[in-house]
Amino acid sequence: MAASSEEFSVNANEAIRISLVQPGPNNRLITKHEFHPKFTYPIVGEAEQIFGYKGLEVELLFAAHDLRPHLQCSYVKKFDTVGTTSALDLNKTFGNFLPPTAFQQGFESEVLDDSKAAEWTPPGVCVKKYTRGGENFEVWAGSLLDMPMRTLVDNIQIFIVFFIEGGQFINLEEVDWTLDRWRVYLTYQKASKTPTPNASPYLFVGYATTYRFYKFQKPPKDHIPISFPPTETITPNTLPSRVRISQFLITPPYQSSGHGSALYQAIYDQVMADPTVLELTVEDPSEEFDKLRDMNDFDNLEPQFKAINLKIDTSPFASMDRGRLKRVPTARLLPLDQLQAIRSKNKIAGRQFARMVEMYLLAQIP
Ligand code: ACO
Repeated sequence: MAASSEEFSVNANEAIRISLVQPGPNNRLITKHEFHPKFTYPIVGEAEQIFGYKGLEVELLFAAHDLRPHLQCSYVKKFDTVGTTSALDLNKTFGNFLPPTAFQQGFESEVLDDSKAAEWTPPGVCVKKYTRGGENFEVWAGSLLDMPMRTLVDNIQIFIVFFIEGGQFINLEEVDWTLDRWRVYLTYQKASKTPTPNASPYLFVGYATTYRFYKFQKPPKDHIPISFPPTETITPNTLPSRVRISQFLITPPYQSSGHGSALYQAIYDQVMADPTVLELTVEDPSEEFDKLRDMNDFDNLEPQFKAINLKIDTSPFASMDRGRLKRVPTARLLPLDQLQAIRSKNKIAGRQFARMVEMYLLAQIP
């Protein structure tokens, strides 16, 4: 009887285990957090199965502070070929998603003996500190041009594939390093004490990347333009720009505790503080991210809508029959000038702002 392919396959989401580790007592690594990926189809294919192994365990270790990675695979049995199908080459497959350092020997001793870890700080500068459940957290921000930041992003990008459906890698080979347009935001827990003197107090929580691009400005009505720049051309940081959130991730152990909101607000505060940035936008947001963004934008805008006593002016309807209702211009129903002023002051993108206005108006219905 022919063997079924399930006999020679394992579920990739179960077989792959991600561990954030740091030096512990007795010169051994301890696992601070352990979790499985949500998606593996971009790595192993649509069925999320790894063919050719029995009892396979793919352990992906990351130093909890600087996120240097290490891949460790073990199995009970390997079936080199079954019929015409060969076992998945794990190193080659993961090599497309991890830096070459992930496949080198000596990870454990390097992390255990890293005398600089205790002094290590995340790349960039600290832009926010907050506490949750009695623990301290920090958000650090810096340019992707900084080598330590670039290395860290390279180490961790596999998380984008693991946790964001359809998430895109930043192709670090193709980034134009002459333009400083990418910024990275990192959230870390900062422990008040460490398990051993050479362990870092910093534990990775999540990160986001943003990039900026030129925002085309409508010229004044009486201005006759000679030539228009393209609307989404990359420009230096002094020109009026949009900032776009590209990747945004809070690791599973820290989700649903307000860390996503804190990270989003940290990015938003930076955008608000930069006079050359006119708008914050998001690339391909997931449903969960939309919810987080709505929640935060609404909290910010609600008092401002209240202050202008925002409501629909129904008086234009009074003198009309049903057939003409559709033709009432929005400007007669809502204070569009005041709304536009709030929108540009808060640097919210047009469609998102319209959603917030709609949410507010719906919330006013008794
Ligand atoms: N204490 C407790 N709970 C809180 C607090 C707080 N202080 N603040 C907010 N919450 C609640 C919220 O009410 C919300 O409620 P819910 O559980 O009913 O949804 C929930 O916590 C989520 O809000 P946050 O905790 O702020 O968000 P979180 O840290 O979980 O981050 C995110 C959300 C980013 C979507 C995260 O789940 C994640 O990374 N998911 C996987 C990857 C992903 O989808 N990323 C976005 C892709 S889109 C893009 O990259 C542009």
